[in-house]
Amino acid sequence: MSGEPRLQVRGLVKRFGGLVAVNGIDLDIRPGEILGLIGPNGSGKSTVMKLIMGIERPDAGAVRLDGVDLAGRPPHRIARSGIGIVFQHSRPLHRQTVLENIKLALLPDSLLRLAAAPGVDERARAIAERVGLGAVMHRHPSTLPFADLRRMEMAKAIARDPRVVLVDEPFAGLTGGEVAAFSELIRGFRAEGRAVLLVDHNVKSVAALVDRVLAMYLGERIAEGTADEVMRDETVRRVYLGGKIEAVAQRAAAAASAPLLELDEVSVLYGKAQALDKVSLRVHEGEFVSIVGLNGAGKTTLFNAVSGLVPHNGAIRYAGKSLAGMTAGAIARAGIAQCPETRELFGDMSVRENLDLGGQHLPRQSRARQLDWLLELFPILKERASQMARTLSGGEQQMLAIARALMMQPKLLILDEPTLGLAPVILELLSKALERLRQSTDITVLLGEQNVTFALPHADRVYLLEHARMLWEGPPARFAEEMGTGYL
Ligand SMILES: Nc1ncnc2c1ncn2[C@@H]1O[C@H](COP(=O)(O)OP(=O)(O)OP(=O)(O)O)[C@@H](O)[C@H]1O
Ligand SMILES: [Mg+2]
Repeated sequence: MSGEPRLQVRGLVKRFGGLVAVNGIDLDIRPGEILGLIGPNGSGKSTVMKLIMGIERPDAGAVRLDGVDLAGRPPHRIARSGIGIVFQHSRPLHRQTVLENIKLALLPDSLLRLAAAPGVDERARAIAERVGLGAVMHRHPSTLPFADLRRMEMAKAIARDPRVVLVDEPFAGLTGGEVAAFSELIRGFRAEGRAVLLVDHNVKSVAALVDRVLAMYLGERIAEGTADEVMRDETVRRVYLGGKIEAVAQRAAAAASAPLLELDEVSVLYGKAQALDKVSLRVHEGEFVSIVGLNGAGKTTLFNAVSGLVPHNGAIRYAGKSLAGMTAGAIARAGIAQCPETRELFGDMSVRENLDLGGQHLPRQSRARQLDWLLELFPILKERASQMARTLSGGEQQMLAIARALMMQPKLLILDEPTLGLAPVILELLSKALERLRQSTDITVLLGEQNVTFALPHADRVYLLEHARMLWEGPPARFAEEMGTGYL
């Protein structure tokens, strides 16, 4: 790879109060090159992207695009100069169709030109086709599956033909097949000569895609080189990758105990769409049950039915008693805590306040004890105790959502895609914590995941949910044998 860098970042610094989120980062990306940016949760990756894009103002440093320093300019001017960003979270306009959303991103500067600009419609259609939204371009974003929403963000980012594309966690929450499709799209950006900066915790997929990797920790560079070199680096291994997730010893006793949760032919309809179709399931006391399924299979709907958040047909019993007619609050008080996929944190409240809310029903002493344990488990939450939840990094928010659910000291803990956005080292930590929790308490866990590398090692039993139906049930070892392809 030769030639002048397209994007050149020098001495980039960003402070939030006393915290130095980015501390003297330098990076170069040439046209037709993909640079991977990795690092543990909260290491400053998203902040680097926001600084390049002008969404946050750097305290020091230069951001040069083909030699022109853009640092300190507002985001719309930086976008106009030729930098596009794919945000981690989709922010579509819901009243507009997919095509209209893309058209808006295509607009030069003023909305009034929309009607006038010739070729906008055609270009928008071409982009929709390219990212794989051809068949759904006239639909509204709220009706799209998760992966298509991510596709729409890609489409918006490339609409104005940027010379540099910043992509923040494109693979989070995607299945293996979807990750492959997105990787192909990003390869396409490279082939067109764009410079790409890619952040993601899916280490394998990043390594397969990038030309070089830069690893950050606490706002600073800790390693740079080829993916191989960086993944072998001692510090990177220690602070980011961690070890392998160990399979836990099977608990024969658990399956023999009484069922804590029973679902009999539970169905849920959203309008005409069948989200759950006569789903039955048992979770025994002390068991760890994983429900594996792709996006849109119905996992979240199933959990929401249990938590009393969506109306359903069929029977749901908890500790032998029907949950019919109970409010979500009463179900939670009975000992079922759900850590939702969407996190549902109180963004304008501090980390500490969010945790206190989770433990409000506990007697003071056990609340304090539980809080201490969780802060020891996720030390970052202790450091960020007074920070507002919405300013936490993606992974820090996920840790807070899990910790808040655990603050309730539930009998039945429901974890919906807990691995979303977490660094490998944190997954290992979470895995050990769940195991410790199971050994020291009688907690029962129901986990929903499409990431089988996390779902299988812990599980006593696995269910496979596909298109609203339970297709398979069995021990994790047999899942790997019988259902492996497409999931592993
Ligand atoms: N507005 C803010 N106020 C205070 N602290 C902030 C603010 N924005 C970010 N931070 C902190 O800066 C640090 C870096 O955050 P950033 O979002 O860049 O991390 P990240 O590397 O993208 O992590 P993740 O992989 O979890 O998304 C975090 O500890 C975060 O809590
Ligand atoms: Mg981030």
